[in-house]
Amino acid sequence: MSRTSEGSDVLVVGGGIIGLVTAWRAAQRGLRTAVVDPEPGGGAAQVAAGMLAAVTELHYGETEQTLLGLNVESARRYPAFAAELSEATGLDLGYRACGTLAVALDSDDRAHLRELHALQHKSGLDSEWLSGRECRRLEPMLAPSVRGGLRVDGDHQIDPRRLATALVAACELAGVRFHRQWAERLTVAREGARGVVLADGTGLDADQVVLAGGSLSGRLAGVPDDVLPPVRPVKGQVLRLTVPKVYAPFLSRTVRAVVRGGNLYLVPRVNGELVVGATSEELGWDTTVTAGGVYELLRDAHELVPGITELPLTETRAGLRPCSPDNAPILGPTALPGLLLATGHYRNGVLLTPVTGDSMAHVLATGALPEVARPFTPRRFDAVPAPVSVEQSV
Ligand code: GLY
Repeated sequence: MSRTSEGSDVLVVGGGIIGLVTAWRAAQRGLRTAVVDPEPGGGAAQVAAGMLAAVTELHYGETEQTLLGLNVESARRYPAFAAELSEATGLDLGYRACGTLAVALDSDDRAHLRELHALQHKSGLDSEWLSGRECRRLEPMLAPSVRGGLRVDGDHQIDPRRLATALVAACELAGVRFHRQWAERLTVAREGARGVVLADGTGLDADQVVLAGGSLSGRLAGVPDDVLPPVRPVKGQVLRLTVPKVYAPFLSRTVRAVVRGGNLYLVPRVNGELVVGATSEELGWDTTVTAGGVYELLRDAHELVPGITELPLTETRAGLRPCSPDNAPILGPTALPGLLLATGHYRNGVLLTPVTGDSMAHVLATGALPEVARPFTPRRFDAVPAPVSVEQSV
């Protein structure tokens, strides 16, 4: 194994949007930072629709309530984050304050949306109940069968591909060093993480290593079992259609619904792209786009917006969401000194990018995880020691 002469303060393994924002923010704090990834800016961001849906993706449960706080905080930081990133790089991120309309197609959906509305209200979130007719007045392409909906003017969108490109550029401008290779394994010395070995055998030293490899985060060799991130891939197939100028504006905001139990969303971009997603499949590392997946998305989207079948279908793709055991991200130091995690963002990676970058840079620079990120420490998954039985103790 050869050694590079210079080490870094921080080495980020994984150059998706979470790894990139961590590196950018760390470099801004004066930390010498490097990123290891064969294709920085690739990964799930190339597939994601980019909904910033803190309010419309609200679910029940205690964990979800805790996650809601993080989601809402990240949404609050988005306008300033997007403006800063745009200004630093001169790049347009496709950030669009367009709002979202969540609609119901039958009485069960309507009951579910009513419950969601009550929960949003209880959580202090802004949303407005609309009749089916009011929904169609807002979005005339909606099907006559739409029975009602929730108007959420605060749930916006960003183009994740542009976001990823801008984060690579911002990192480069901030002096982040890129190693465009796979990390082969973590190096551990004197009971702490000390860097990684790259696929070509080069060793990179660092005072702190951040594992931010999305769904691959649990697969880096050399990471001791007890600190290996418990993330698994959840496949999402996503379609991209194009709205010809004669049909524009096809939709003026993000439209979503739960159709046959699955989350369906249509995200219209200013450039005429219409993103339709997504399946949710537990199939390991498979990223095949299937006829069934495309069929189901188009069938459900057609039920919601019949005119969609007139549009050119320009791209089909599948990505892998990094899902943790409680569906919430895993942020901060592990039990292994020098090893930190920024992964497990599941359905909220794009939304959580600003708060993740800020939180990770803070803990890297100061050693303390900020208040907002504390519930998401990796230590919450530490094995609880089994109670000592009477027989064992005598
Ligand atoms: N946040 C949308 C999805 O994961 O499909």
